[in-house]
Amino acid sequence: MEHLKVAIGADHAGFHYKEIVIDYLKARNIEYTDVGTYTPESCDYPEIARKVAEKVISSEVDRGILICGTGIGVSIAANKVHGIRAALCGDTYSARVSRAHNNANVLCLGSRVVGEHLALDIVDIWLKTGFEGGRHKRRVDMIE
Ligand code: RB5
Repeated sequence: MEHLKVAIGADHAGFHYKEIVIDYLKARNIEYTDVGTYTPESCDYPEIARKVAEKVISSEVDRGILICGTGIGVSIAANKVHGIRAALCGDTYSARVSRAHNNANVLCLGSRVVGEHLALDIVDIWLKTGFEGGRHKRRVDMIE
């Protein structure tokens, strides 16, 4: 997990959670790029989602993490980018299976939906879990 590169972004609603997740990444020596937002002022989540998605698609990073109030806006926006498989997760089971079965390359979190500790558990499991491949690869290939 230490050699993963991660791009992280949030709108104003997710700004505080972004800081918490960055602290988690720093504590584990995980390399990250913070695409903003950098203040709690209101901003537009589609722009943040696009920045993270483009870094994943260009292979500048391995995975992306996006946070908004519900996680819904950023997941809809990120999934518009071809090749992005953004998974909105509010529980650890979905986080694990989104990696193992769906090879999700972006994790979306809702700061107004999940508590801070659960959010960090979700991030932890999502970053640690690998894609199982096999029959799941065939299905993921079908999406492309
Ligand atoms: C911002 O108020 C809110 O709409 C946004 O963070 C997000 O929840 C959108 O899906």
